[in-house]
Amino acid sequence: MGVVALVHVLVVASFVATALCAGNFNQDFDITFGDGRAKIVNNGQLLTLSLDKSSGSGFRSKNEYLFGKIDLKIKLVPRNSAGTVTTYYLSSEGPNHDEIDFEFLGNVTGQPYTLHTNVFAQGKGGREQQFRLWFDPTADFHTYSILWNPQRIIFTVDNTPIREFRNWESIGVPFPKSQPMRVYSSLWDAEDWATQGGRVKTDWSKAPFTASYRNFNANACIMSNGKSSCSGSNRGSSSSWMNQQLDSTSQQRLRWVQKNYMIYNYCTDFKREFVRFRVLILIGDVVNSSEDLRTQNLTGSLSRARQRGYTQSLGCWTKLRFHLQLLTHFNANACVRPNGRSPCHGSGSTSAWMNQQLNITSQPKGRHSEQNFHTFSQNLPKD
Ligand SMILES: *[C@@H]1O[C@H](CO)[C@@H](O)[C@H](O)[C@H]1NC(C)=O
Ligand SMILES: *[C@@H]1O[C@H](CO)[C@@H](O)[C@H](O)[C@H]1NC(C)=O
Ligand SMILES: *[C@@H]1O[C@H](CO)[C@@H](O)[C@H](O)[C@H]1NC(C)=O
Ligand SMILES: *[C@@H]1O[C@H](CO)[C@@H](O)[C@H](O)[C@H]1NC(C)=O
Repeated sequence: MGVVALVHVLVVASFVATALCAGNFNQDFDITFGDGRAKIVNNGQLLTLSLDKSSGSGFRSKNEYLFGKIDLKIKLVPRNSAGTVTTYYLSSEGPNHDEIDFEFLGNVTGQPYTLHTNVFAQGKGGREQQFRLWFDPTADFHTYSILWNPQRIIFTVDNTPIREFRNWESIGVPFPKSQPMRVYSSLWDAEDWATQGGRVKTDWSKAPFTASYRNFNANACIMSNGKSSCSGSNRGSSSSWMNQQLDSTSQQRLRWVQKNYMIYNYCTDFKREFVRFRVLILIGDVVNSSEDLRTQNLTGSLSRARQRGYTQSLGCWTKLRFHLQLLTHFNANACVRPNGRSPCHGSGSTSAWMNQQLNITSQPKGRHSEQNFHTFSQNLPKD
């Protein structure tokens, strides 16, 4: 086969990839459950899921993807949606699966939905962030997108990034990057926990509940028989998303969302072990010297943390860096153990996180002894 023929094959391949973007629910998806409760109408342009007391419903993509930008317009269950959960996620199969989640937790009429996000890598999740939306997601369709490339995962709502999960494999945080995933969506009942912690149950007299979908668009690498549609020379050309990162405008938008609409962040949940671990680092049990802080040298602190049996794999490192910076900025010496001072006194008033730190250290006054450290660390739950 000559060069000309090869070029021809590539052109056809990229044409096929483009054609697949056009979004037709009949072509792109299989209904997975619901016994007639999932319906594709308008020549494949609209899909509706419904939920009643006997069953919910769901669908999944025919294709498996390994990296891509996936967009879907969704209009959520209106009015009293308490107890209902509308999911939209990417997931691989098998025991150590990867998953990138959007979940919309319903609420009683007039109260806001919760948008829940999570990232699983190699079977491990626990990286939840939750948000409010800045519009009524039941009044109209809005675009929810997952950008997934080898460096990062970006969740966006109507093109506004709400969350970025970076690839920190270089410091031991697993990142989904080798298992192909399908797009899934479902509408189901979770009245035991979904709404206001399960206190508000589903009102079945309002069933069936319905969510609607439009404009699926997968600008993505399709895997079939172990081969990616983006392999070889096709890779770079097809895809600005493949190397996409947040430009400064997007970063500003992200900060705006996180400041005003984030209602839960696993990275700052003090009930979680790794957050306490980070606090331990910062109160000077692991950070040995102001040297580490001044040089922003995490390697030293992290290797000492590992020596002490702490591991963490959940990917809150950016926050850790930030906190170290914060600490440096305030008064690093006051937080550092070898100087034997009470940790962080006087530097804490500006953030809730600092107050938490002061709270746990308020017991042992003065120098933080090895003994205190061991007692405290033994009381931590295991990861
Ligand atoms: C529902 O509304 C209540 C009250 O505003 C709020 O606390 C809760 O987070 C909302 N969302 C869910 C899923 O319960
Ligand atoms: C802390 O740092 C000092 C000076 O850099 C070093 O001598 C000491 O061994 C370190 N201690 C630990 C526990 O790493
Ligand atoms: C960071 O700390 C590690 C371990 O203490 C040390 O080996 C390395 O040289 C340090 N790096 C810098 C840039 O200071
Ligand atoms: C300090 O911690 C205790 C127990 O963890 C908690 O009950 C208390 O509310 C905390 N105080 C502050 C000011 O955060």
